[in-house]
Amino acid sequence: MDFSIKTNDAKTSIASLKAGCIAVGIYENKKLSPQALALDKTGEITAALKSGDISGKPGSTLLLRKVAGVTAERVLLIGLGPDGELSDKVMSMAALCVARTLSTLGASDALLALPFDGIAKQTPERDLAWAIRATILVLRDGSYRSDTLKSKKETTSGVKKIAFLVATANAAAAKEAVAQGLALANGIDLTKELGNLPGNVCTPTYLANTAKRLAKEYKLSVEVLDRKQLEALKMGSFLSVARGGGEAPKFIIIKHLGGKAKDAPTVLVGKGITFDTGGISLKGGAGMDEMKYDMCGAGSVLGTIRAIAELKLKLNVIGVIPATENMPSGTATKPGDIVTSMSGQTIEVLNTDAEGRLVLCDALTYVERFKPAAVVDIATLTGACVTSLGHHNSGLFTRHDSAHDALANELLSAGKATGDTAWRMPIEDSYQEQLKSNFADMANIGGPAGGSITAACFLERYTKKYTWAHLDIAGTAWKSGAAKGATGRPVALLTTFLINRAAAVK
Ligand code: BES
Ligand code: MN
Ligand code: ZN
Repeated sequence: MDFSIKTNDAKTSIASLKAGCIAVGIYENKKLSPQALALDKTGEITAALKSGDISGKPGSTLLLRKVAGVTAERVLLIGLGPDGELSDKVMSMAALCVARTLSTLGASDALLALPFDGIAKQTPERDLAWAIRATILVLRDGSYRSDTLKSKKETTSGVKKIAFLVATANAAAAKEAVAQGLALANGIDLTKELGNLPGNVCTPTYLANTAKRLAKEYKLSVEVLDRKQLEALKMGSFLSVARGGGEAPKFIIIKHLGGKAKDAPTVLVGKGITFDTGGISLKGGAGMDEMKYDMCGAGSVLGTIRAIAELKLKLNVIGVIPATENMPSGTATKPGDIVTSMSGQTIEVLNTDAEGRLVLCDALTYVERFKPAAVVDIATLTGACVTSLGHHNSGLFTRHDSAHDALANELLSAGKATGDTAWRMPIEDSYQEQLKSNFADMANIGGPAGGSITAACFLERYTKKYTWAHLDIAGTAWKSGAAKGATGRPVALLTTFLINRAAAVK
């Protein structure tokens, strides 16, 4: 899919613009958007509304061919609800309708003449750029196919060239929005692809090679540590998870240094369990295949790095990924084993299925050396997070002081701006008590109550030296059922968070 901007000055009527299809908005109560009005030379559009063929409600569409007085071959009417409010929901509904219709058309190009220019007047963050980015994301989401490992690729039909029609005054902002939308979509696609690849293909080595490939393409620096180097660093907790598997563990560090040399980096740490069987505390068989997605934290770090590298973001960002599988075997860690983390704190592994926190804690200690401005870890950490927040919001955990409240708010608003939302959860001493061990500094599980919170509390103990946030994406990183697949979340949240940070240091 190819996206571009077309400007519309007052002199040329949009009725005379050439296109395979031109999409315009209409409102409820048979009201036409300014663009629809401009196409309605002979009243055909008004007649179509009067006939009741389209209600104007969000989700309603009508395709007209060869409208008199209109050069474009087709006119696609898109219902936008009541005039005057273009909410998140209406916007994504409209984009979905556009995507669905364009994917079935015989036309090769389309012009989107939706009432984008007027949006900014309503809510500042719901501006033209927002609408363009959102539309690109929906269209690219619809055209993504997980057919890498199918012997026959699905053929994609439909419109390939899409232009946004905007006022000349908005052209520069619109162009930047297209670049951001594309970078985001490319990052999201990479994250989906990595998530969807099975555990026998997307191994720790595969993740490391993906990081190296990105580094080469975008001139980033990358370092991959192997088992020996991890032993030298005393990452006893991470390595205890890697004891059972046949695949070699890898610790990946990838740096996008787009800011000033003296600026402290923002660090992203992604859980990279390329398959989670549970280890000796083996999971049940039903649906276990979905544990190939247990590296989606790592995938979203690589997807985000790809997006910001493509945008040449002026910010120092470091991605860190502890990658291993979690397998049972004769050499695997056993329940009750006590391991020593890189921080020196000892951990009683009461359940080998709580392995995410065991790999993350050593990564969180490792990143102290970067003297980070902030650290955000991203992990498919707990089933409990799915129970509490479902599939709509990622769980956001931070300490509760002013510096952490500020970081939390940055992440929450980046989520809101992209529809890739998160919901804040507590970290408190009362939950910390559940991690008490009789034999080590802490246990790796805190009992059945508040499972996503005690997991975050465990990580919190390794993050005292910097400002830190944890995103539990167990419910948001992939979908089960008929539409099974990785979602690419929370790449949009993270990328927007970093774009906003870069704008703040300017
Ligand atoms: N990768 C899982 C978390 C998970 C479970 C994500 C289901 C998505 C869906 C994690 O490693 C895990 O197994 N967590 C355990 C923790 C428990 C043993 C304290 C869980 O959530 O059951
Ligand atoms: Mn597990
Ligand atoms: Zn896991």
